[in-house]
Amino acid sequence: MVVNSETKLRAVRAEDLRGIARLERQIFKIEGAWSLAEYEEDYAKANRVYVCAEGDGELIGYAFAEWRGSTGYIRALAVRRGWRGERIGARMLDRVCASLWRRGMQRLVLHVREENERAVELYRRRGFVRRRRVLNYYRDGVHALEMVRVRRGR
Ligand SMILES: CC(C)(COP(=O)(O)OP(=O)(O)OC[C@H]1O[C@@H](n2cnc3c(N)ncnc32)[C@H](O)[C@@H]1OP(=O)(O)O)[C@@H](O)C(=O)NCCC(=O)NCCS
Repeated sequence: MVVNSETKLRAVRAEDLRGIARLERQIFKIEGAWSLAEYEEDYAKANRVYVCAEGDGELIGYAFAEWRGSTGYIRALAVRRGWRGERIGARMLDRVCASLWRRGMQRLVLHVREENERAVELYRRRGFVRRRRVLNYYRDGVHALEMVRVRRGR
């Protein structure tokens, strides 16, 4: 981690998508990560929220969501290794959730690998509650927790 470094959050711009696709492959090391073309197609849709974090001028994290009806879906949240534990993930999540509440969502939903304690704890502390376990949700057969946060008094 870079000490005393500057981090800032901002909306993703089209020219960031290549870096995001690269970062996704680095972080998740998975087959089937989205190509640049897939990102471009998704980003162009109206019902999307794309936020990223910059540290020392480089892309160090991203968070995406979409909405359908009155439900918002948190689709991705990731921070580059070396930058974790600095509240960047929490800040991006807060930004995305705020954007979805502003759009009138009644509930926010996400799926997380059940073994991913860090992420589960992050979501739990931000008001997401486990709704159910979805078996074999991920390609590698890992189960997901489906977590939900309901709008309250906003
Ligand atoms: C999950 C991830 C996005 C968190 O981002 P981050 O910037 O490191 O997290 P933050 O510093 O904002 O910490 C947020 C919360 O995570 C939890 N957390 C942080 N460090 C932790 C640790 N070592 N062990 C357990 N929980 C931890 C805490 O609940 C913390 O909340 P708090 O600040 O209220 O104490 C990041 O670790 C990551 O990119 N992981 C790999 C990709 C991934 O798993 N994404 C989630 C897919 S659903």
